[in-house]
Amino acid sequence: MENVARIVTICLVSSVLFACSYPLGELGLIKSSKEVKVFDLKAFSDKKIDFALVKSVPLRTCLECHTSGSRSMDTADKVLKLQNDILESIHKGSMPPKSSGYSALNDCEKKILETWIEDQVRGRAAAMLVKDIPACAGAKAPEVKPKTDFKNLELSFENLKKEILAPKCLSCHASDSPGYQYALDDLQRMKDNELILATADESLLYQVTVPGRVKYFMPPKNKGIPPLTADEQDYLKRWIEAGANE
Ligand code: HEC
Ligand code: HEC
Repeated sequence: MENVARIVTICLVSSVLFACSYPLGELGLIKSSKEVKVFDLKAFSDKKIDFALVKSVPLRTCLECHTSGSRSMDTADKVLKLQNDILESIHKGSMPPKSSGYSALNDCEKKILETWIEDQVRGRAAAMLVKDIPACAGAKAPEVKPKTDFKNLELSFENLKKEILAPKCLSCHASDSPGYQYALDDLQRMKDNELILATADESLLYQVTVPGRVKYFMPPKNKGIPPLTADEQDYLKRWIEAGANE
């Protein structure tokens, strides 16, 4: 009996220790063997709630799609103008669209956005830090997918397919997609169909990515797929003009 009591006591004590040390480690308050991770998190917790942070955390995914037009969110003024719609969409969970594989904002991200909006509305200086928001206590620094460095990416069809066509075009235009005229995973067929000519400006493959240039804009709007970014468009143009090679 005495042994059982001892074991229970040991378990209780160690579970309390474990439960306490974990969040402290996450918060960067105690040393962890993963020095780098703690440093990143600390850097995140110490960040000021300013527009730069709002753009890189809660609005990070939004800016993949809402970069132009009436719902553009790339400046503080535009975000403030749309604040009610934005807050409603993130609280309802309708944005960012789950149908395109995005997950809803977590409580910390929502709070960062709300805090920043409130500061602006009240004309307060951005005085709060991420760690002052209870919902962000122990929150992980956001995982930012490393951006492809298109400026230094070798010009090849393989890279174009992997980085641009697969995520933004091939869900509709692959060789095995029924009902579409163009197979954008088949370089020879694209050339035979004259989608690619000597310059980007005369190539339909490029023209469709420029708003207002031709009848169909690609990827089609309202399908939850972001348009090409300026870097992606530039890569496509340079690839075409370098000879559209494999
Ligand atoms: C993958 C592209 C994409 C992403 C990412 C995205 N949106 Fe949208 N958003 C759309 C599209 C497309 C519409 C238009 C829907 C329609 O008109 O049916 C839209 C509409 C909206 C609207 C209008 C009201 C509504 O709910 O339809 C708001 C507000 C909005 N988005 C906010 C956001 C915010 C905030 C984020 C980031 C947290 C975000 N969106 C992320 C594509 C996106
Ligand atoms: C959601 C499905 C979808 C996606 C994603 C998509 N397209 Fe399309 N595409 C269409 C439809 C629908 C048409 C209309 C003509 C047709 O039925 O072939 C079309 C037409 C085209 C055409 C012919 C335009 C013309 O004037 O005849 C080209 C070229 C094209 N798409 C390229 C692209 C490129 C490049 C991407 C990616 C940046 C892309 N598409 C993404 C659905 C899609």
